[in-house]
Amino acid sequence: MSAIFEPVDACGIDFGTSNSTAGWSRPGERALLPLEGDKLTLPSVIFFHAEDDEVSYGRAALADYLEGHEGRLMRSLKSLLGSSMMDDFTEVAGRAVPFRTLLAQFIGELKRRAEQSAGRDFTRAVLGRPVFFVDDDPVADQRAQDTLEAIARQAGLRDIAFQYEPIAAAFDYESQISREELVLVVDIGGGTSDFTLIRVGPERAGRAERRDDILASGGVHIGGTDFDKSLSLASVMPMLGLGSLLKTGRLMPSAPFFNLATWHTINQAYSRKSVAEINDLHREASDKPKLERLQSLVRERAGHWLAMQVEEAKIALSNAPETQIDIGRIAPGEAVTLQRDALDRAIGGQVLSVEQTVARLLKDAGVAVSAVDTVFFTGGSSGVPLLRQRVQALVPQARCVEGDLFGSIGAGLALDALRKFV
Ligand SMILES: Nc1ncnc2c1ncn2[C@@H]1O[C@H](COP(=O)(O)OP(=O)(O)OP(=O)(O)O)[C@@H](O)[C@H]1O
Ligand SMILES: [Mg+2]
Repeated sequence: MSAIFEPVDACGIDFGTSNSTAGWSRPGERALLPLEGDKLTLPSVIFFHAEDDEVSYGRAALADYLEGHEGRLMRSLKSLLGSSMMDDFTEVAGRAVPFRTLLAQFIGELKRRAEQSAGRDFTRAVLGRPVFFVDDDPVADQRAQDTLEAIARQAGLRDIAFQYEPIAAAFDYESQISREELVLVVDIGGGTSDFTLIRVGPERAGRAERRDDILASGGVHIGGTDFDKSLSLASVMPMLGLGSLLKTGRLMPSAPFFNLATWHTINQAYSRKSVAEINDLHREASDKPKLERLQSLVRERAGHWLAMQVEEAKIALSNAPETQIDIGRIAPGEAVTLQRDALDRAIGGQVLSVEQTVARLLKDAGVAVSAVDTVFFTGGSSGVPLLRQRVQALVPQARCVEGDLFGSIGAGLALDALRKFV
């Protein structure tokens, strides 16, 4: 038994769409390692400064961008895994750099910070992965995992195992309970919603093989960044001209607005071609003030800033029925008022898909819904009230437990690393 409590040179790495964590199990200590000052998460963000070759990560990257430094901000890099953009190049400080290299740079930094915090090197790791990197395409899904594995090797990890993120969350929950339960884990993050129905309990926790405990797992490629995009397209981009008419009576083309509402295509709106198109649209627009806001946004390179305002408003609506987005930076003195109803309408289709995925999982598991003892919520987007209500309504008699929304996966991966690599 004592060997189990020796710290191993293995860690758990939760590379998330929005936030990343690293966990290292040690007796009597919290698994999660500080990654930025005393913070246990490192936002999955890189900022490349244009003035010099400085690169900043996490909160510092966001702050550098918001302070107005010239440069290139990258977020939501995980969404590129398994996408056709993975082998594309993007311009960083005047150079064409493959997205793959940016991903490797972030993961390398994550590992370095974990090692610095732990005071030792890690050569072995359990990496979290969503149940599906790519929906309905097993070949692309495997390619995504292979890419992540190759990047982790490049960062110096030699032994690598993968674990589904919701199963990791279940292990974290399991470490806190004293009797056996059937738990539905609901992990709704920035990029994906992942679920598992699993039997957990103190006696089962020590077992190396848990396959029989897992009744079903499932997931769908919907997360908080999709909600940001939907909210932006429904409530903010119309202020910049989306949905308005050209003088010819035709509808305004939507491409620039979609680019600006999607984290990893924001920079495409700044290309010379896109700027020329936006100027043409302004000339042809029947509602010029709207297009002037768009021009101002692009001129100010404020796309990420606006997307952050939208994300903040979405989060605020989890706790309040109404909030405001200050768009003064592109339209002096102006603000957009947002009601929770508008958010619910904007994300309604996505919430329905999540709900249907959970319903299918419960059906496939072949157990009575009434047998589910607990719903364990984790992931930042599980804070969205509509999502919670809808998922809870599928298992009305189950007890609801809220985990550490940003830490359960990393802590569970650390436990898994301990089991897999002793
Ligand atoms: N209180 C809140 N209400 C609603 N959404 C929230 C709240 N807090 C954070 N979020 C959203 O949660 C998301 C980040 O959650 P999390 O850190 O769990 O994702 P992730 O692990 O990085 O992503 P994934 O697991 O999908 O790769 C962001 O989209 C953020 O806007
Ligand atoms: Mg996550």
